[in-house]
Amino acid sequence: MALYGVLGDVHGNLEALDAALGALHARGAREILCVGDVVGYNADPDACVSRLRAEGALVIAGNHDLIGTRRLGFERCSNKARYSLERTRRRLSASSIEWLRSLPDRRLIEESIALVHGGVRDVQLYMRTPAHIRWNAELLREDFPAARVCFFGHSHEQKLYRVERGLAHDQPLSGGILEKDGLYFINAGSVDAQRKRGERFAECAIFDSDAWRIRFLKLPYDASRTEAKAELGGYRIPPLVDLLYSLRARM
Ligand SMILES: [Fe+2]
Ligand SMILES: [Fe+2]
Repeated sequence: MALYGVLGDVHGNLEALDAALGALHARGAREILCVGDVVGYNADPDACVSRLRAEGALVIAGNHDLIGTRRLGFERCSNKARYSLERTRRRLSASSIEWLRSLPDRRLIEESIALVHGGVRDVQLYMRTPAHIRWNAELLREDFPAARVCFFGHSHEQKLYRVERGLAHDQPLSGGILEKDGLYFINAGSVDAQRKRGERFAECAIFDSDAWRIRFLKLPYDASRTEAKAELGGYRIPPLVDLLYSLRARM
């Protein structure tokens, strides 16, 4: 039983990760759970790996971690993601690659808390609707029958769903105490917010597995510094390359 900091979709954004870890520690989080996509899009993949390793975080692999370490191809990537992942492949240290390759695709903690990245059986599935959750709740019951909470990522949006009598209900993000006999799917949000419009916040959550309480956080970070490093490091796709990738995909 513990107070967990829950995060994911870090995408090589060190400024946002430091903001999230600082806030989670300040609120008493003892252990960090990460639902994957440590790398991709931004310029600090090695530093983000180092931070999570130093934390002793329990991490699973996201699609960007799999693609960045050549365990998965670019077939389901957008042009932006592909370009930054090609850069990430060239920049990752041997030690980061070894660690990322060692990550499991899914895991179960305290016998009742499941971590998945996209869908329960498909790392690249975006679970964005109650119908996705309902169908994945059935898969979760088959694969992890004792799980009562499933943390997921990939869709980059803070979400709390309760599954009841075969239906999934979108719940308010005010958080609070979860029903111990309920089944919940929770996205703590995306640490990286560089591709979001408007003001950017590092998102994460804190989960108390004694009280069964969830609280969502949104934290400011230095997004212009992250962007400047990404531009300078060659992680942003030039418009002409974007066009070439699109033309190549149609051939
Ligand atoms: Fe992601
Ligand atoms: Fe992802």
